[in-house]
Amino acid sequence: MNKRVYIKTVGCQMNVLDSEMVIADLKRHGYTVVDSPKQADCVLYNTCSVREHAEEKIYSALGKIRETKQRDPSKLIGVLGCMAQKDQEIVFRRAPYVDLVVGPGQLHTIPDLLEKLRNGEGRQLAVSLKRNEGSQAVIARSHETFDPLRDPAMRPTPFQAYLRIQIGCDKFCTYCVVPNTRGPEQGRSPQQIVAEARTLSDQGCREITLLGQTVNSYKFRSDDGTTTDMADLLEQLHPIDGIDRIKFVTNYPKDMTARLLETIRDLPKVSPYLHVPAQSGSDTVLKRMKRGYTIAEYMEMFDRVQQILPQASISSDFIVGFSGETEDDFRKTIELVERCRFKNSFIFQYSVRPGTKAAERLPDDIPREVKVRRNNELLAVQDAIAQEDNRKLIGRHVEVLVEGPSKKARKDEHGHVVQMTGRTHCDRIVVFDGNRRQAGQFLEVQVDDASSHTLVGRVKTVEVVTIGSTV
Ligand code: SAH
Ligand code: SF4
Ligand code: F3S
Repeated sequence: MNKRVYIKTVGCQMNVLDSEMVIADLKRHGYTVVDSPKQADCVLYNTCSVREHAEEKIYSALGKIRETKQRDPSKLIGVLGCMAQKDQEIVFRRAPYVDLVVGPGQLHTIPDLLEKLRNGEGRQLAVSLKRNEGSQAVIARSHETFDPLRDPAMRPTPFQAYLRIQIGCDKFCTYCVVPNTRGPEQGRSPQQIVAEARTLSDQGCREITLLGQTVNSYKFRSDDGTTTDMADLLEQLHPIDGIDRIKFVTNYPKDMTARLLETIRDLPKVSPYLHVPAQSGSDTVLKRMKRGYTIAEYMEMFDRVQQILPQASISSDFIVGFSGETEDDFRKTIELVERCRFKNSFIFQYSVRPGTKAAERLPDDIPREVKVRRNNELLAVQDAIAQEDNRKLIGRHVEVLVEGPSKKARKDEHGHVVQMTGRTHCDRIVVFDGNRRQAGQFLEVQVDDASSHTLVGRVKTVEVVTIGSTV
């Protein structure tokens, strides 16, 4: 029987990494990867539940595959990830032609489950914590990961990789579905993480991005009682040859300690780029969100970063239109953005998530138009700030890890790509005239122009050897 698999991934970096693991696993079981559902014997969707829109997109993709499945019932359809965990049997009810539903904690069982399906055992469900009856197979709660099994072909680029250091989340912000879909917070052992980073380096990886929902809260207690925190872990990863840049997302404001910031300052490979979502500028909203800090505390953290890491770039996430958010609350969010001048902010309209505290206890009382208006207004303020700050970099030299051709890459008369893109240590996107051979190199680029999201420049040297300039 043919084993051709197609996987579509939505959601955060965790999902990108999970898909890499699933494909690595399936390849070891004789599967090959194809580029379209049409060519595939097995079509997998790795899903996200963080907002309703993310789920709708998947259900609409499932709707489209329905006809294909009717024509060829042997094609196996799987729903993986956060929506699989959240919806469980509901997925089968809404899309009865789905064969397989697997939560983020059970992805390592996919090859077995596919085998069962091929043997005619009927639809398979593998999720944490049983919620409803009526399924064929329910696997007990498990948050095993299979991180050491990596597949370079599925990475963002051959020289950049994600490395999970923490699974799950214990913070239970009232709006957020992630603790329900990803389970309790658990740090992976530093030995495992360091070994995996070495493997990545051996495979040609130059930049690793450490992943965790609250990555800077990372803690691991070993059997002998020693604990390792984020600062310790960075110190252990820093000496690995071949790894030239270390990034980490996402940070939780309350755990951004002076010791961690000093460690980042003292380790040149660690990027002075901190994604530390504030979510709102209003104390009353933050309290309703159960974020665990006030704006005064967020600002204390912010000042600490500026003091210890004056070169750092800081970015944030915001939710607009959360339950009860008044115009005054929203003004405070604008003020916070104006005060902090974030490098960039991801702005989301509040979306009620079944199973969360907010869904149970707080009304979704901000009209859609108001959410849209606040979203646009905040985005305009953030973009204007980013453009102003980026333009201050015109004339400066920045160090760029070249990722590949830019999205709108221009080509010369021979059809060769001439516009490349990369990122600075501080995570700024830079486009410049170049060629594909530069991918994976560190280059010094002079900035000639800038917009809110992109710097435009030209290459000054062939390859930069010193790592650690901070722009
Ligand atoms: N663990 C990370 C990010 C989690 S999800 C953190 O704590 O920052 C990514 C972003 O999605 C969040 O930062 C938040 O801004 C947004 N988000 C989460 N739940 C949401 C919801 N119900 N509606 C709208 N945006 C949401
Ligand atoms: Fe969600 Fe809050 Fe955990 Fe982030 S910290 S994943 S927003 S519960
Ligand atoms: Fe979405 Fe799950 Fe990530 S809900 S944002 S894919 S942790």
